[in-house]
Amino acid sequence: MESNYQDRIPNNVDLGSNRTLQRALEHWQPEFLNWWHGLGPSDFNAAEVYLRTAISVDTKGWATFDYVKMPEYRWGIFLAEPGPDRRIGFGDNCGQPVWQQVPGEHRSTLRRLIVTQGDTEPASVEQQRLLGHTAPSLYDLRNLFQVNVEEGRHLWAMVYLLHAYFGRDGREEAEELLERHSGDADKPRILSTFNEPINDWLSFYMFTYFTDRDGKFQLKSLAESSFDPLSRTCRFMLTEEAHHMFVGDTGIGRVIKRTIEVMTELGTDDPTAVRKAGAVDLPTVQKYLNFWFSSSLDLFGGDSSSNAASYFANGLKGRPDEERYEDHVATEQSFGLDLPDGKGGVRQEEIPMRNAMNEVVRESYVRDCEKGLVRWNKLLEDAGYPLRMTLPSTRFRRTVGSWANVPTDTTGKPISAEEFAAHESEWLPTEGDRAYVRSLMRGVFERGKMAGWIAPPERGINTKPTDFEYVMLH
Ligand SMILES: [Fe+2]
Ligand SMILES: [Fe+2]
Repeated sequence: MESNYQDRIPNNVDLGSNRTLQRALEHWQPEFLNWWHGLGPSDFNAAEVYLRTAISVDTKGWATFDYVKMPEYRWGIFLAEPGPDRRIGFGDNCGQPVWQQVPGEHRSTLRRLIVTQGDTEPASVEQQRLLGHTAPSLYDLRNLFQVNVEEGRHLWAMVYLLHAYFGRDGREEAEELLERHSGDADKPRILSTFNEPINDWLSFYMFTYFTDRDGKFQLKSLAESSFDPLSRTCRFMLTEEAHHMFVGDTGIGRVIKRTIEVMTELGTDDPTAVRKAGAVDLPTVQKYLNFWFSSSLDLFGGDSSSNAASYFANGLKGRPDEERYEDHVATEQSFGLDLPDGKGGVRQEEIPMRNAMNEVVRESYVRDCEKGLVRWNKLLEDAGYPLRMTLPSTRFRRTVGSWANVPTDTTGKPISAEEFAAHESEWLPTEGDRAYVRSLMRGVFERGKMAGWIAPPERGINTKPTDFEYVMLH
């Protein structure tokens, strides 16, 4: 697989040999750039940003780091190397060769899956477009832009599949990916989490920790797909995605670290005192965490889902790391779901395993989310504070699935709507909390300087020092 980095659109799919496809994508390219200028990062387009750019899929050297002006970023199309004699790994056709073209009977479903994934990529760039102005440091500003340009590349990845394999319908879908906008009243993005505004950096770190991690699990499910070009596209996207979650993980950790420093200086963990000293009090961090975790859980879909069952049966979307499971057909197994009993309690129901695939993936997502909490809680433990960060129950504040609109406390115990309302301000960010967090947001653009509400990172990007000039603003 030759990488061609000289073409107008860098690629490793031999785009030059398919003139029609190349022309169609070159026609979409200026529309993408228009979108970037209109709805990508506000300002900063003239700044030189120290960015990573994917140039091939070679594991030893897939990216270069250099100063780039964002509109000149080389958004390319890169698919992971094809596996030798890859076979379908699950479902009714397990063991048969994978598909290099889209089977007619799965065409509209696959298109929908690709469009839904593709829609989230530019949506997050739109959600984050104003954040640059309030970056806590040049290091963070650079990380924001890195995430943004790579989400742009992920959009390219999905648009390539639509153009290359779905004919005219695919080209129309590619146009519409630039026409829906995050939070737009008439043409919103498809999934509701991607219409939530991200106005502050605490939300940005929560988003990159929890919502980009949902992205990781979606990509892992699609990486199992029998449609090989989709699988290979998603496998390479996962390489970039890891950094996005790193930004969230270390971002939340640095906020907590700074709060601990302030609490120790003050000799108290009183939230009012912590706020007076300009840090984010821990109850507020917990509320943000409750909000973004519950919102991201909804992205996995219903807990009992006939769609999920048919995606699995037909080999369109598998379980992440499908090879770790023993039974790849899953027709004989069942899954015990906890459901609200309608009388304020919980009942169990056994459902066919295939119908529970969303829940299976959601459970592995939750386990993955817990890893960050272990690290953050270690900081609290080492500093001698008894408080611990926790993930709320997966039943808490759901809007999708059996627990949708069933009021529960953060441990998942069903409660009355009145009780929920009485406690909501302890569990979820209030307007006051959000206003406080926003009041901390002021851009810090001096080299090596850091805002007072967040600790500096432990190390820099690509072995550069933490006070490196990650963004040259002049
Ligand atoms: Fe992405
Ligand atoms: Fe991402």
